[in-house]
Amino acid sequence: MMRNVSITFAERLSRWQADTEHALDRCLPASTSSPARLHEAMRYSVLGGGKRVRPALVYATAAALSLPQHTVMAAACAVEIIHAYSLIHDDLPAMDDDDLRRGRPTCHKAFDEATAVLAGDALQALAFELLTTDSDLPAKPAIRLELVRLLTQASGTAGMAGGQALDLAAEGQPADLATITDIHARKTGALIRVSVLLAAACQPDLSREDHDALDRYARCVGLAFQIQDDLLDIEGDPLLLGKATGADQALQKLTYPSVVGVEAAHRKVAELHQQTLAAIAHFGSQADSLRDLANWLVLRQH
Ligand code: IPE
Ligand code: IPE
Ligand code: MG
Ligand code: MG
Ligand code: MG
Repeated sequence: MMRNVSITFAERLSRWQADTEHALDRCLPASTSSPARLHEAMRYSVLGGGKRVRPALVYATAAALSLPQHTVMAAACAVEIIHAYSLIHDDLPAMDDDDLRRGRPTCHKAFDEATAVLAGDALQALAFELLTTDSDLPAKPAIRLELVRLLTQASGTAGMAGGQALDLAAEGQPADLATITDIHARKTGALIRVSVLLAAACQPDLSREDHDALDRYARCVGLAFQIQDDLLDIEGDPLLLGKATGADQALQKLTYPSVVGVEAAHRKVAELHQQTLAAIAHFGSQADSLRDLANWLVLRQH
């Protein structure tokens, strides 16, 4: 398949974002149906914001593997929905206690805490429902099961939820590089990594070598992404970010720069960037979107 060179990465990204928004809108329950307040909160937190990094990784991986976008759309929505749920719970007073997300009041501020907890719960269930019911995903039961397995592992104690528990437990604790690397790999890396792995699982002809190369790419992007998030909390512009800065220091969070310093954290992002590109160097021009995404994510200011 020839790459359409007339489309810039920025244009492709904004098309992907629009496609994602449309698909998410369609799979979320209507705010007019009961329980309306819960459905409103789910729609509020999923729609109308966010960079849609994880869906973009799903689509870019699909493009690299010659899979049509519609065959991975539900996987992209599922991972973005898990991400939205993780943000709702991350912002709760019991966790990071944040008032602003994507430039708007956080879910528990716009609604209430009970609704925010339930919106997260219901979104998690919706993500798995999509993987089991969507008719455009590969129909083969073994592939469906693998998609569910991958997303459960990335969301559970080995991934996001476990990482969040470790993140909270590490507040105010002594700095340690192995611990922070493990926290980042789980709380953020796992959902980034699974975005690539979900698309890979939809391509049954994928060689072990290419699978492992994509996995290396995804692990490096995931760690770089959270280190950049930590750096933006120190150096970023809250208006651009749409969330408060300085929050990590106020909560005595264990972050990558708190362990190694700001300069070394920047160097680590640069090093991971090179490793990311090296991992997929043997892929042809069909992997250009994966390269563009990696370049964007390490330079991002929000
Ligand atoms: C924020 O994720 C939380 C982290 C895992 C670092 P994003 O930076 O992807 O947030 P949105 O979806 O664009 O708002
Ligand atoms: C969030 O990490 C990770 C998850 C939501 C799983 P952070 O707590 O650093 O994310 P922000 O900075 O609030 O977006
Ligand atoms: Mg947090
Ligand atoms: Mg937070
Ligand atoms: Mg952060």
